[in-house]
Amino acid sequence: MAVRPLVGIVAAAGSGERLGASGPKAFVPCGGRPLLDWSVEALGAVCDRVVVVVPPGLEAGPDRVGGGASRSESVLAGLRSAPEAEACVIHDAARPLVTPGLIQRCVAAVERGWDGAVAAAPVTDTVKEAAEDGRVTRTLDRSCLWSVQTPQAFRAEVLRRALTVPRDELAAATDDASLVEGAGGSVTVIDAPPENIKVTRPSDLVTVQSLLLRSHSGSRVD
Ligand code: CTP
Ligand code: MG
Repeated sequence: MAVRPLVGIVAAAGSGERLGASGPKAFVPCGGRPLLDWSVEALGAVCDRVVVVVPPGLEAGPDRVGGGASRSESVLAGLRSAPEAEACVIHDAARPLVTPGLIQRCVAAVERGWDGAVAAAPVTDTVKEAAEDGRVTRTLDRSCLWSVQTPQAFRAEVLRRALTVPRDELAAATDDASLVEGAGGSVTVIDAPPENIKVTRPSDLVTVQSLLLRSHSGSRVD
């Protein structure tokens, strides 16, 4: 059953320290337009409205709100500006290769009854646990391990409740789904294509730019 209104929230308020550009990462040119525009376009194809959470001071424009000191606080700011949402899709501006198809598969899982559905890739490296001195304490069974990404779709009410935690807990969360899981919500993984990579360091920007230009060749190359 369709869960509407569906609001897309783009987390774009980070500074991009590791990228080391002269301005915030989401505004860095990539494939001929600001990095965040790719995500806004993909979400716009699926959602009723798209809210972009930007660094405070850069809110000019429709559906832009100022973010917080941590990613989760930024997501909370976006969600607060979308009181009409029955479902929401949270996505990082740092993953511009997201497709409407992947977003739709996450949303469809929420429509089937999951509280949350997160894009993820099966772990391909062997993963070990090590003590502080480097001594390996355990090798994990990677057959059930997933590396989690965005988009992450949720029943909005469940995410609102999950984000109602003390500020330090909010700041410590590395993704939105972990807060939902912590509150007892049901979350499923959605197998994402390998191209859905994140721009973190300068070399990622080079890789992403060439993938974007390849996947959009013929449509728009500025
Ligand atoms: N983000 C956000 N608000 C914050 C911090 C991060 O909206 N206070 C967003 C970023 O804009 C990014 C996403 O969360 O799209 C994932 O974060 P990350 O890749 O770590 O980006 P930055 O925090 O900007 O980069 P860095 O950690 O290198 O400073
Ligand atoms: Mg960060």
